[in-house]
Amino acid sequence: MSGKLSRRGGAVDPFIVMDVMAAAAEKEAAGDTVIHLEVGQPSTPAPKAALAAAHAALDSDKIGYVAALGIPPLRERIARYYRETYGVDVSADRVIVTTGSSGGFPLAFLASFDAGDRIALAAPGYPAYRNILTALNLEAVDLPTSAADRFQPTVAALEKAGRIDGLIVASPSNPTGTMVGHGEMKALAEWCDRKGVRLISDEIYHGIVYEGDTVSAVEVSDSAIVVNSFSKYFSMTGWRIGWLLVPQDLVRPIERLTQNFFISVPTLSQHAALAAFDGKDELDGHVRRYRANRDLLLSGLPAVGLDRFAPAEGAFYLYCDVAHLTNDSREFCRQMLREAGVATTPGVDFDRARGAGTLRISFAGSTAEMEEAVRRLRAWRRL
Ligand SMILES: Cc1ncc(COP(=O)(O)O)c(C=O)c1O
Repeated sequence: MSGKLSRRGGAVDPFIVMDVMAAAAEKEAAGDTVIHLEVGQPSTPAPKAALAAAHAALDSDKIGYVAALGIPPLRERIARYYRETYGVDVSADRVIVTTGSSGGFPLAFLASFDAGDRIALAAPGYPAYRNILTALNLEAVDLPTSAADRFQPTVAALEKAGRIDGLIVASPSNPTGTMVGHGEMKALAEWCDRKGVRLISDEIYHGIVYEGDTVSAVEVSDSAIVVNSFSKYFSMTGWRIGWLLVPQDLVRPIERLTQNFFISVPTLSQHAALAAFDGKDELDGHVRRYRANRDLLLSGLPAVGLDRFAPAEGAFYLYCDVAHLTNDSREFCRQMLREAGVATTPGVDFDRARGAGTLRISFAGSTAEMEEAVRRLRAWRRL
């Protein structure tokens, strides 16, 4: 006897990087050391100010349920961040605190789309977009991108995509690190407005930038939904806290959804996140380290045959074309882990059609780990 299984649940793909992490853990359990270039998270804890605020909240607050949209001081502080960072005045009423950006996606999708709607997104891209859309009976429409368009959606690509109801843009992108400029974001936003398409802008890697400036969709659009998080720049992955910035008419629908789905977002994390904005010096220090790591890999990896990268303007990833070395990136990554003790993520996680010829290297770890990775890969390629 077995119970009913949903078709939509069965249609959701695994997140392959999790499989790589499991294989790496197995190797470590067997006594080997592994350099982790697969994980997409900072290797540092939350900023000191956030930790102090969390301790104080534990001592003074009962950590009960709070308002579904988030505690007012945090919503105000996030609105201030938009004034300070992008010079845009946004009302705190439009800020919705979420359980990581991952908690924001289903809310944004459910508030914007009906079952069967078609949402365009760049390939390669972050796999959870597609997988969450699939779970919600929404159709993910790949926009195959290339180095020529810097792996970002363009109006020309959208014109060829057939009827669409939504567009997800991620800048800086995971896995490529490439960004959308101000003019490009404006063109995409205007096209979406003309066509009645909802623009969803994933800005989770804002703050982690090496070349050029990030543009927030809120600078160029009144109807876009902005998704952001404390996970990356703020170095708070496990606190599971993020936010949405939404047009006024979506606030109440999302409030109703979040009341029913989650009641509220973890209260302790909200207190910590509020104080995290005071950790700027510490957090900017992490970004300087990421830059040093990126430069070290960009100069060290060509010697081992890894020399075809997307321009890593932001985030902490190198997306690497390995088609001259393998036609099976999954096996290539397995072998690299087994023989060199270096874990990376095969491109099939990000681009189902073309990812057999690519892999993603995360440089979020320490600089010493990057040096060791290059040393190991050099020894490996001389095998
Ligand atoms: C592009 C992108 N969006 C969203 C997320 C989800 O992050 P979180 O739920 O921790 O905010 C990730 C995590 O790696 C990501 O790379």
